[in-house]
Amino acid sequence: MKEVKSLFAVKLIRTVSGTIVLLFACCIAGLNSCQTKQSRVKDFLSWLPEQHRDSVYSDPANPYSEEKRVLGRYLFYDNRLSANNTKACASCHAQEYSFTDNYTRSAGVYGDLHQRNSRPLINLVYNRYLTGADSTLHFPEAQMLLPLLNEHPPEMGVKGKEAHILSRLREDTRYPGLFAAAFPDAADPVSWEHIRQSIAVFVKTIISADAPWDRYLRDSSQYPLSAAAKRGRQLFYSPALQCYSCHAGINFSTPVLKEASGKTDFYFNTGLYNIGGKGGYPAADRGLYQLTGNVADEGKFRVPTLRNLAFTAPYYHDGSALSLADVIRVYERGGRLQPGGDGRSNPYKHELIKGFTLTAAEREDLISFLYSLSDTALIKNEQYANPFR
Ligand code: HEC
Ligand code: HEC
Repeated sequence: MKEVKSLFAVKLIRTVSGTIVLLFACCIAGLNSCQTKQSRVKDFLSWLPEQHRDSVYSDPANPYSEEKRVLGRYLFYDNRLSANNTKACASCHAQEYSFTDNYTRSAGVYGDLHQRNSRPLINLVYNRYLTGADSTLHFPEAQMLLPLLNEHPPEMGVKGKEAHILSRLREDTRYPGLFAAAFPDAADPVSWEHIRQSIAVFVKTIISADAPWDRYLRDSSQYPLSAAAKRGRQLFYSPALQCYSCHAGINFSTPVLKEASGKTDFYFNTGLYNIGGKGGYPAADRGLYQLTGNVADEGKFRVPTLRNLAFTAPYYHDGSALSLADVIRVYERGGRLQPGGDGRSNPYKHELIKGFTLTAAEREDLISFLYSLSDTALIKNEQYANPFR
């Protein structure tokens, strides 16, 4: 897998992983001692909004500038960036749904379904890998080529219409000035390279760190966690459930599990399908296998964030779970029973997905904890809203 070259990466990753280890170690030992150790998490989150711009997983060739952010925000919301003026990035990444679209699988400019459920564009600089199952994609600058240019199916349908779309932007009253301000040294500022760079800068500024859980970590006396969420937290970090083993870190999406080589493992099969009893996933989406061709990677997907689940239903890579209770029941069962086969006996399923028992009240508590990770301030934040309104 490609390593990211960023000046800050090594130091920051160490801070983050140090925090994770401390947090989960103390949480297993007993929740009271969490309080002091959590101050490290608190420190991290408190400087997060100011420092995120050129840190961690960020393309060093595209540094932050306020002018790029302003331009990128217009472009992110502009339907004119698609073949037929019908789709912007925001069509599938809407602020009210924490920058997802509320569909099972997203539809492109001509109505074709994407293979996957849309993902929330929050705290992206803390994601080592982007998308559900492509370990070569680290930066939005690169990822964005997929929605822009994809033909199978077309998402924004730009391929073959690049020059035409640029001429639309050049004729606009606003854009030539915004591009010139963002790229003052360029002879021809209105270009696809600059579109990509400025949208990437904008999406990297979308930070979500003000959920009840974040506030509680910042100041537990002013922002106490509900009793139900506290009980749910205990379950989340318990040896029986082990949710934290995969859902850890700032975004609850960086696993603490290692591969045999010592590297962090980011992709897991959670036993959602087992077509023909041989570990098969639906042909439309076979996960990491599609990239590596390795049979053991069938059905492996990147661990998704647990932030903002209150806004991002339906769940899973293909939107096949409508509610959090549905997702939790799959973990309780140790895999999902589907008409084509029982995911519980999927041979590629990770060993931690082995099932456990919860009472109805405990399931509710776990859901309360998960909801405490949802940040209402994000969906109201004017800085990220549609600038054309
Ligand atoms: C037709 C719907 C659609 C459009 C339009 C769209 N996206 Fe997406 N986006 C998706 C889906 C679906 C995924 C999940 C892809 C996957 O997991 O393989 C995604 C994933 C992403 C991710 C990865 C997030 C993560 O955490 O892995 C980024 C970044 C992203 N989109 C940015 C953009 C930008 C920028 C634009 C506009 C240039 C855009 N998208 C347009 C549907 C769309
Ligand atoms: C072995 C690693 C692993 C463990 C342990 C684990 N998860 Fe997951 N989780 C994943 C992966 C991978 C996915 C994505 C699966 C997919 O889409 O195919 C996921 C998906 C989810 C989702 C759906 C999120 C979304 O936006 O689609 C939720 C909610 C969730 N897990 C909660 C939990 C809870 C609660 C626990 C503990 C009971 C837990 N997970 C334990 C790896 C894990």
